[in-house]
Amino acid sequence: MCGIICYCGHKQAVPILIEGLKRLEYRGYDSAGFSIVDKGKNKIVKAKGRVSRLEEKKIGLAMNSTFGIAHTRWATHGKPSEINAHPQTDCANKISVVHNGIIENYLELKKELEEKGHRFKSETDTEVIPHLIEENFDGDLEVAVLKSVERLRGTFGIAVLHADIDHQIIIVKRGSPIIVGVGKNEYFAASDSNALAPFTNKMIYLSDDEMAVLNTSGYYIKNLKNELLEKKIEVLDASEYKIDKRGFEHYMLKEIFEQPESVQNAYRGRLIESEGVSKLGGLEPVINRLKNINKLIIVSCGTSYYAGLLGRYIFENLTELNIETELASEFRYRRLKLDENVAVLAISQSGETADTLAAIKEAKRKGALLLGIVNTVGTSIAQITDAGVYNHAGPEIGVASTKIYTSQLVILTLMALLIGRYQHISFSEGSEIINALTGLPGQIREILSNAKDIKEIALKYSKYRGFLYIGRLYNYPTAMEGALKLKEISYIHAEGYPAGEMKHGPISLIDKNFPTVAIAPDDLTLDKMVSNMQEIKARNGKILSITNSATQKVLGISDDTIIVPKTIPILQPILNIIPLQLFAYYIANERGCDIDKPRNLAKSVTVE
Ligand code: AGP
Ligand code: GLU
Repeated sequence: MCGIICYCGHKQAVPILIEGLKRLEYRGYDSAGFSIVDKGKNKIVKAKGRVSRLEEKKIGLAMNSTFGIAHTRWATHGKPSEINAHPQTDCANKISVVHNGIIENYLELKKELEEKGHRFKSETDTEVIPHLIEENFDGDLEVAVLKSVERLRGTFGIAVLHADIDHQIIIVKRGSPIIVGVGKNEYFAASDSNALAPFTNKMIYLSDDEMAVLNTSGYYIKNLKNELLEKKIEVLDASEYKIDKRGFEHYMLKEIFEQPESVQNAYRGRLIESEGVSKLGGLEPVINRLKNINKLIIVSCGTSYYAGLLGRYIFENLTELNIETELASEFRYRRLKLDENVAVLAISQSGETADTLAAIKEAKRKGALLLGIVNTVGTSIAQITDAGVYNHAGPEIGVASTKIYTSQLVILTLMALLIGRYQHISFSEGSEIINALTGLPGQIREILSNAKDIKEIALKYSKYRGFLYIGRLYNYPTAMEGALKLKEISYIHAEGYPAGEMKHGPISLIDKNFPTVAIAPDDLTLDKMVSNMQEIKARNGKILSITNSATQKVLGISDDTIIVPKTIPILQPILNIIPLQLFAYYIANERGCDIDKPRNLAKSVTVE
C-alpha cells in the first residue's frame, strides 16, 4: 500500500529519494520519511501528510549523503503521525527500517524485546524489526537481518540500513512487493517500478523469502537460507511506467480519456480475424490444459472483482465452462473442490493485492491451474500464476480504476473467445465479436467527445447525499462499478444493485432526494428495467439513465439520459461505464475532493 524507495550510489541521495516518493504518492499514504547516513550519523526526517511537507522539512539538512531509504506509510498499526511514520529505528538510532505490510506477531515480539530492555517509541508493528535486528547485531548486518526475519510472521517488504556500515542497504521480501533497480555504479530498491523510472529501466523482481544486499560496488541476492541466487535483470519498456498528466487536471481524467488506446492495446495483436478467434501468447504454454478444464473460478477485489462479475456472464455466454466469480478475500473461507480440471483466474491491476495473492496461493496448493490478468509487469501475481495476459494499459495512477477496468473486460472477452472457439462458438459468432471489439475505440471516442454534456448533468446531481445504481445482467456489474466510482472519489454514498433486487429492500430509500442511475441498454432486459424505473418514478425518485437507443420507453421516464453508441450486449458495459466514470469525476471535482488520492484509500492494497 505504502511505498519504499532506496538509493545506494555516488549521487546525493535526498533528491532521488524525494523524487521516488513523489512517484509513489499515487499508491495512497498518510505520512512519509527518510533516513540518510552522513559521516556515520543516521539522519531521519519525517512528516505527517504529503511528501511536499517532507520536502520542506529537509531544508537545512546536510545533503552529502549518497545512500538512504525512504517510505510513504499507509497506517495499519497506530494512527498517522510523525512518530509512527517510517523509518522506524532501534534504541541506539543506528538501524533504520522502512516496511511495507504487517507484522502479525509484533505484540509477542515487542513484549519479548521490552523484557530485554528495548524501548519502543511508536505504536507501529514495524518498530519490532529494528529492535530485533539490534538484538541480533554482532557487526554483520546481513546476518542480523537474516536472523531477525526468521522471527517475523506476516507480510513484509523491508529495507534496512545501519549508520556504522557504509553504503549497505538490505532488502527482504515476503508477501509485499520490493524490487531492485540496477543503474551504473548505483543501485536502487523500490516497492514498484514507477518509482525508479527516472533512474533506471533495469529491474530485478524478488520473489518471496529473498533478500538483496546493495552497496556501491554491486548487489547480490540470496534466499533466506543464505544461498546466493542468480536472478534475471528485466529491462522495462518506457511505456510500462511513463507517468505524466499530459495537461489533464487529474490522472483519473487523463486515464478516462486514454480508454480508446488502452482498449485497443488490450486486443492489439491478439486477434486472428481470418479465423474468428483470439490469440493470447501468454496462455499458449498452458493451452492444452486449458482445453480440458471444466470449471473456471475468477478471484479479485474491488473494480477487478466487478470485471470478474461481468467475466462470469461473458464466459457463460461464450464457453461451456462452469463459472464462479468470488471475492478474493472470501475465497479462502470457501470449501471449493479444486483440482487440475479447475482454473483459477486472478484479475488485478496492481498485481500485488494481498487478498488476491492469498486466494491464488490457496488455489495453487490444491492443484488448480492459475491464470492471471495483470497490468503491472513482473508483480507477485504475475509471477505466481502459471500463465496469463498483461493489459499493456500503461500505469494507472488515479486510485480509482478506470482504464484498467475496461481493459480487463476486453481481455476477459478475448480469453472466453479463445476457449469458446474450441467449444460451441462458430466462426461467424467469433467474427461478430471481433468486429464489435475493434469498433470500441471509435465508440469510446464518441462518448468522450460529449464529456461537456455529461459534466453538465453531473453538476445537476452534485448536491445529493446518496444514489442508487441499478442494472440487470451484463449491466449489473456496471451498476456496482459505477456506484463504487462515485463513492470512492466523491465520498457520496452510492449503492449498486441488480435492478431486480431493488424491490426486495433498497426501494425503501427512494424519494425525491435519493436519485437513481439506471443502466438500461436496449437488450433482453430492457422491459424489466423499464418496469423497475417506473417503480422509482412512482415514488418520486429522480432517474438518470444510461442507454444505447433513443427509445421513448427510457427517455419518457428519465429526468436525464445519456445515450452511448450501441455494440453487442456482452461488450455494451465497456461503453456504459465511461459516462459513469465521468459522472463520478465531475461530481467529485465540483465537491473539491482529492480525486487522484481519495482519503483512506490506497492504490495497491497489500494487506489482507
Ligand atoms: C478501484 O477503483 C479501487 N481502488 C479498488 O477497488 C481496486 O480495484 C482493488 O483494490 C483491486 O485492486 P487490483 O486490481 O490492483 O487487485
Ligand atoms: N504496518 C506498518 C505500519 O502501520 C506499515 C504500513 C504500511 O504498509 O505502510 O506502520
